[in-house]
Amino acid sequence: MADRGLQADIKPVARRIIPVRIFDYVVFGATGDLTRRKLIPALYHRFLDGQFDENSRIIGVSRSAWDDKKMQQTARQAVAEFVEKEFHDKKTIDRFVSCFSYVVNNVTDKNGWADLKAKLRDDEEIVRAFYLAVAPDIFEPICKYLAETGCYRPSARVVLEKPLGHDLASSQEINAAVARVFHEDQVYRIDHYLGKETVQNLLALRFANTLFEPIWNSAHIDHVQISVAETVGAGSRGYYDESGALRDMIQNHILQLLCLVAMEPPASDEANALRDEKLKVLRALKPVTAEVTDKVSVRGQYRGVSSENTSVKSYQEELPDDKKGSHTETFVALKAEIENWRWAGAPFYIRTGKRMATRMSEIVIQFRDIPHSIFDNAEGAPRANKLVIRLQPDEGVKLYMMIKDPGPGGMRLREVHLNLDFSQAIDERMPEAYERLLLDVIRGNQTLFMRRDELEAAWRWVDPIREAWDNSTEPPQNYTAGTWGPTGSIALIERDGRTWHEGDDY
Ligand code: BG6
Repeated sequence: MADRGLQADIKPVARRIIPVRIFDYVVFGATGDLTRRKLIPALYHRFLDGQFDENSRIIGVSRSAWDDKKMQQTARQAVAEFVEKEFHDKKTIDRFVSCFSYVVNNVTDKNGWADLKAKLRDDEEIVRAFYLAVAPDIFEPICKYLAETGCYRPSARVVLEKPLGHDLASSQEINAAVARVFHEDQVYRIDHYLGKETVQNLLALRFANTLFEPIWNSAHIDHVQISVAETVGAGSRGYYDESGALRDMIQNHILQLLCLVAMEPPASDEANALRDEKLKVLRALKPVTAEVTDKVSVRGQYRGVSSENTSVKSYQEELPDDKKGSHTETFVALKAEIENWRWAGAPFYIRTGKRMATRMSEIVIQFRDIPHSIFDNAEGAPRANKLVIRLQPDEGVKLYMMIKDPGPGGMRLREVHLNLDFSQAIDERMPEAYERLLLDVIRGNQTLFMRRDELEAAWRWVDPIREAWDNSTEPPQNYTAGTWGPTGSIALIERDGRTWHEGDDY
């Protein structure tokens, strides 16, 4: 690995680069969008950083009649289109694309498997990983043929992309099919939120500081809010209408965030230590029964806007004709309660939606009011502290606290923000989630991947909500594109005497 991809005139993108072992990464679904938009750009950055070199290979697999050249062209175009210009370097790109090759294989065709087998190197020192960026209904034949054709070996890893089922039963089926070939410690279930730098930073914030942990419980915290708002629409994405926001965002990304906020401190950052704690949180979630679904959940669907300056289609208008009238939710707000000592009495309000007012993801820890105020004669009542963890964009942490307004004129209290803006504090490019996750697979580190029992516990909580909605004849509430969701979402939290935090500088 002497000759690294890093060019002298390009700033290193991370301080500590630990090269990984040489690998054969087989990507099923190589002609798809995920490969172009996420996997290739992520691998390019890791290559540019010198984390691997052209001794490693990326082998695309799909039904399309492509060849090595076409795969390499695709890799080149993906870099041109999805990697920031400042990181383009002709020589590095040439070397990077030379890692790519391609095998035609429609999964059930034995010849395709023989070609793939011939490309894989037998050396046990070379890590072998299979990335399944395909529909989960072909996970089973893929795993079966991997085993039958000798592509599988006990040290190989398999990476599973979402959606991993549409309910508990289907996810159990998928997991069982994979488990017939791969042992759980070979399986890497991707939830790309766990690869986000700021999400990992939640662990650092909680467990690398003494400050927060003693007050991280319902004695001091009134409630927690988790919001993931997007401005993009969803109706033209074929898969979305089958899924809806509950399955697409809550079951995975948002419940994972909730776990990281709520879990007990694990004994170490070893994968199973962390995953055991997350699982306990999922199992402690109060079940949402049919009787209470309406009280603790709100689903919405956006309607369009048309004015002189803007025109945004409604979800219904975006849908193809055969789907019109769909009740699929593009927005969800939920009140989740965790039934354990730490969180009893401090609910988690979670919400996510498409076509919202702005794109932002944040976690708000709302602390309780001070128990007694000595400032009765002061101007401005003390407000409860709040810790806002912004995951994207403008990653950072903000602590809302009270100070005395400086100067004469008696005691005047003012709320100020202690603001740690990561982009200012850290003079480095923030790696994309997939960069970390793709190479964690090669390192054999499962910490940031979901274990089977976690995934199933998440479905177990989500399924009854879905069922209650499906049994209801009520459509989702409407909200106007570009707003914060239906009024029902505001009512959901206001009924408890609380308010959604709507940021102040987005
Ligand atoms: C995906 C969902 O998992 O996450 C998409 O399927 C969503 O609907 C996306 O847009 C959001 O990811 P990010 O990283 O843009 O917040």
